[in-house]
Amino acid sequence: MTKVLDKQTQNFKLTKEQELLQRTIKEIANEKFKEKAKEIDKSHKFPRENFKLLSELGITGLTIPEEYGGSGLDTISYAIVIEELAKVCATTSVIMSVHLSLCSKPITKYGSNELKNKYLNKLATGEYLGAFCLSEPGNGSDAQAMLTKAEDKGEHYILNGTKAWITNGGEADIYIVTAQSTPVEELTRQNLPKHKGVSVFIVEKNMPGVSFGKLEDKLGIRASATCQFILDNVKVPKENLLGKEGEGFKIALSTLDDGRIGIAAQALGIAEAAYDLAQSYAKSREAFGKKIISFQAIQFMLTELATEIEAGKLLIYQAASLCDKKEKFTRHAAEAKLFCSELASRAGNIAVQILGGYGYTTEYNAERYLRDAKITEIYEGTSEIQRIVIAENIIKELTA
Ligand code: CAA
Repeated sequence: MTKVLDKQTQNFKLTKEQELLQRTIKEIANEKFKEKAKEIDKSHKFPRENFKLLSELGITGLTIPEEYGGSGLDTISYAIVIEELAKVCATTSVIMSVHLSLCSKPITKYGSNELKNKYLNKLATGEYLGAFCLSEPGNGSDAQAMLTKAEDKGEHYILNGTKAWITNGGEADIYIVTAQSTPVEELTRQNLPKHKGVSVFIVEKNMPGVSFGKLEDKLGIRASATCQFILDNVKVPKENLLGKEGEGFKIALSTLDDGRIGIAAQALGIAEAAYDLAQSYAKSREAFGKKIISFQAIQFMLTELATEIEAGKLLIYQAASLCDKKEKFTRHAAEAKLFCSELASRAGNIAVQILGGYGYTTEYNAERYLRDAKITEIYEGTSEIQRIVIAENIIKELTA
């Protein structure tokens, strides 16, 4: 317990470089993405030009090591970027979060030199956009229940199956794909759990046999392409196995640890945007002869949000800093995601409430924040899954 407290009392003041990065992204997001965020929410048009602009600024390679063409920055810098993007455009923030944490990070962490050379430079420059495929139409939270199969054919694997809810689906060039490479019957015979038969593969969009389902029509983050990723006898070269055979489930879960910091930062950005809108509206709107910010009912809503936003930020910085120190951060990433995603939904709801009728219309952004917030409680592990992860890790700490 003392160890956890020591970690929690550290100072999370941003460095000069992190502050500069934050200012730069804030300016660009406000100047280039703000107006468009409303537009693409209506049109559902994937904002490829936002990704392109971010690639010109080096953001697509933010956390990719310098030797592979990236900037090699830390996880706090990554969280700051995702947060600033989400304040303005939640769609753009999830596109970048998935590209950096769910696709580029596992290649950096588990890829052979050959794989790193093959993919990281192109992901860093933005020539390639990345995606991650774990869920399937019949399983999400129960990630082990996957049906996608990989058959070892000597020189290559043959992959068959359907992956679902793929962010950047159809738009991405590179897909990190989990599949059962040892048949479940074989594992049962050997008395091994199903996850020991899961492997991860890097699949390219243009490989014969890859196709995509229809774009999902979503409540929020409406312009981030989400669809099924279908594998029909896709021939994947042996070298595209990421990590070792049978270690894929752990690779996928540890990748989600990284991803959850990004989703927490996305949720925090949405919460801050909702708070900023609600408080600025409350300062100008009058009722009963007073600005509505002078009513305690409004103040209490805003002060709770302001306090929770600070708390959420610290949870994210703590998880990110443990990740950078290469310490265990599974529990901390889950705590940050759980707290910030539920905060984002509350903040969106409060913004709509404070703006009243105006909040319910598309004239203001409050209703968009509420719609965009909801998914952060679902993807990369629902709030219920985060509670399970936190509980399991607390039990492990208590019994260690
Ligand atoms: N890192 C590495 N390994 C881990 C791990 C972690 N964080 N957590 C568990 N493991 C290991 C365990 O140690 C265990 O290995 P051993 O048997 O060798 O000890 C193995 O993984 C299996 O662990 P569990 O028995 O705990 O696994 P489980 O089947 O009970 O599942 C779970 C645990 C937490 C529920 C997990 O399935 C989970 O996180 N589910 C949610 C999945 C999810 O987040 N899906 C979102 C998909 S991505 C997305 O949203 C799309 C997008 O594009 C944004």
